[in-house]
Amino acid sequence: MLIRQAGLADAGQACEVLRRSISELCAADHRHDEAVLARWLASKTPENVRRWIQDAGNTVLVAEHDGSVAAVGAVKTDGEITLNYVSPEHRFQGISKAMLAALEAVSRGCGHTISTLNSTRTAHRFYLAAAYTDTGTPIVMFGTTSYPMTKRL
Ligand SMILES: CC(C)(COP(=O)(O)OP(=O)(O)OC[C@H]1O[C@@H](n2cnc3c(N)ncnc32)[C@H](O)[C@@H]1OP(=O)(O)O)[C@@H](O)C(=O)NCCC(=O)NCCS
Repeated sequence: MLIRQAGLADAGQACEVLRRSISELCAADHRHDEAVLARWLASKTPENVRRWIQDAGNTVLVAEHDGSVAAVGAVKTDGEITLNYVSPEHRFQGISKAMLAALEAVSRGCGHTISTLNSTRTAHRFYLAAAYTDTGTPIVMFGTTSYPMTKRL
């Protein structure tokens, strides 16, 4: 498994991983509510993923396994992690943990000492185990609850 910077050629597969990770793994968040899912998935298009990859204020990483994209992560230059999604067939194989470490390394490289993110309900326990703590009141995004969390790097 290799974690590397995403290229434009990864956009299609990366988008598919995002969409499947949200639809198939985040049921604790969307509870199979079609309207919520539609709002959450609306921005997850190949065109938008290409835009995020090209955005200078953003670093998009992919985890590559056997030549395919197994996970997608992104961190903004302000130190906020905006994506960390693993494909369902690669769940619980250490990939999100490795992706999180890679995203934090990018953030550290930008000079940040704090990492911030908004966790899904699905990943909340994962981030607590990775030394993130809740900061502030949960917020509603796409009709789901999101947990603002931070970690000192
Ligand atoms: C929960 C999730 C993030 C874990 O990532 P992963 O790549 O599957 O798992 P990893 O092997 O990297 O990490 C395993 C850790 O997840 C946590 N974990 C284990 N079982 C879990 C479960 N049922 N639910 C949530 N977290 C769990 C533990 O902390 C575990 O660490 P440990 O093995 O040291 O006990 C992932 O499976 C998932 O559901 N992703 C959906 C997308 C998402 O919500 N992303 C976050 C956006 S903010």
